[in-house]
Amino acid sequence: MKVIDNLPAWHDWRSGLQDQTLGFVPTMGALHAGHQSLLQRSVAENQSTVLSIYLNATQFNDPKDLAAYPETLEADLQMAKESRVSAVLLPTYGQIYPDDYCFQVDETKFSKGLCGADRPGHFTGVLTVVMKLLNLVQPQRAYFGLKDYQQYQLIKDMAVAFFMPVDIVGCETVREADGLAMSSRNQLLDACARSKAGRFNAILRSAHSDSEAVQQLRDLEVDVDYVQSNDGRRFGAIVVNSGNGQVRLIDNVPRHQFRNTLICGPRHQ
Ligand code: PAJ
Repeated sequence: MKVIDNLPAWHDWRSGLQDQTLGFVPTMGALHAGHQSLLQRSVAENQSTVLSIYLNATQFNDPKDLAAYPETLEADLQMAKESRVSAVLLPTYGQIYPDDYCFQVDETKFSKGLCGADRPGHFTGVLTVVMKLLNLVQPQRAYFGLKDYQQYQLIKDMAVAFFMPVDIVGCETVREADGLAMSSRNQLLDACARSKAGRFNAILRSAHSDSEAVQQLRDLEVDVDYVQSNDGRRFGAIVVNSGNGQVRLIDNVPRHQFRNTLICGPRHQ
């Protein structure tokens, strides 16, 4: 596995692939089994796979969130090696933003709701860095998790809107035994916050309505940024107080997974 931290070396490596199929998994590091599932799928579907690890400051609207973001490079490289990744790209801010973020990719509709409403500028940072990374890496396929469904949908739409020659592949959410979606931020939860977070997915699935889900989450004493159903999915974002600060978690469930009992009934929506 090649570890590459500069662009000339990257371009050299990339040109050596010629017409082999290349899969790409962009991440911000602190890798867990969710990231690993993306790597494994890419390795299975492509002749070579590139992982990028880049903690992208432009998508953090809250400096405290950025400062608290875990960094575990040695363990990440180990996981990449075990997953049979071909190359890991570790760029710097100067390499990714030679323009110092003067050029930005802004989506004006879907990115302004859900997480975009609470995190101004977040999706502009995400779309800009993903466009840059896709242009650098030039993969045939790029893999994204459905845990971050709004992000996945926006990236898919961006690729269509800008005629980008890449297939954006969505991968199922990997969860802990109690349903909590794996996330790099889960490391920041203390025991009490972890047990509250463990109820989040079950509430999104079982509540009869979005407002009932909000109430059940508030009863746990977590802050609710939103619970909203659209496009056949129920989306939620919560902020849990932990000894280590405030931790924001998101999740979503497809409509066929809402409730697993009554199909119709007085409270069915
Ligand atoms: P990051 O949070 O590191 O996630 C990298 C990829 O892993 C994303 O596509 C995310 O949806 C996916 N992922 C995270 N948790 C997952 C889980 N439990 N199951 C399945 N997939 C999961 O998302 C980002 O980084 C950044 O916004 C990025 C796209 C890299 C741009 O900076």
